[in-house]
Amino acid sequence: MALSAQHLLASALLALLLAATSATDSKNNPADELVTLINANRTASKASSLADNQGLGCIALQYIKAYKGECNEVGGNKKPVESSFIDTFAPNCGVQATTLAKITGRLLACQPAYPPPAEAFNMLISDARSLDVLHSKNHTEVGAAVTGTSGGGPYFWCVLFSSGKPNSSFTVEGGVPKTAHPGCFSGNNDECSGAISTSVSAWRLVTAILFALAGAFTL
Ligand SMILES: *[C@@H]1O[C@H](CO)[C@@H](O)[C@H](O)[C@H]1NC(C)=O
Ligand SMILES: *[C@@H]1O[C@H](CO)[C@@H](O)[C@H](O)[C@H]1NC(C)=O
Ligand SMILES: *[C@@H]1O[C@H](CO)[C@@H](O)[C@H](O)[C@H]1NC(C)=O
Repeated sequence: MALSAQHLLASALLALLLAATSATDSKNNPADELVTLINANRTASKASSLADNQGLGCIALQYIKAYKGECNEVGGNKKPVESSFIDTFAPNCGVQATTLAKITGRLLACQPAYPPPAEAFNMLISDARSLDVLHSKNHTEVGAAVTGTSGGGPYFWCVLFSSGKPNSSFTVEGGVPKTAHPGCFSGNNDECSGAISTSVSAWRLVTAILFALAGAFTL
């Protein structure tokens, strides 16, 4: 009797622990994780580490939204017109138009199921051309974004590179980009509680509870 109570308590504690872990994880930003992978790969190839610019990250999320969830448009020649940066992307983010800098590279990928950052990296860097973009010495800064489409797939990842000065390009009025949920972008302290991280955490919680129940039933 005392032993089963102990088991039950241990299972409950384990469930709480796993739930707490997933709560912390939900604050993690997958777009920031992708930037970390990008910089790790660049520095391993003797290219510079790039500044993570929140204004550029926010614009990367706008760039995705311009595709309106149309996965089949990715990889073709169709891409948002250049004037979108100044006409819609910058104003939607609160980025000051005068601080827009040259885009020196862009990577975009899309698939029906959510690819976590490491998988997204492999999707984005899929050939020699994208590897050249990744390792280009033209870049000084980067912004990344990820989002699903109306509460589910397809999921889009976008990385924009720029040669602007990290401190004075893509600067945001008031220092905080306009939030644009759903979706996550890099360089800010956004908890990113959009559809992506919420569903991941929910699954972890369910797993934790099942784990605890399994523990409780094998007494
Ligand atoms: C960088 O990424 C490319 C493409 O995925 C890969 O082939 C290469 O091994 C990576 N380099 C390092 C040092 O991880
Ligand atoms: C770097 O910039 C130069 C000059 O604009 C351009 O010719 C070159 O293709 C760029 N390199 C890459 C890898 O994009
Ligand atoms: C510019 O960026 C550097 C780090 O990259 C930082 O140490 C410095 O304070 C920044 N300057 C301004 C004016 O924000």
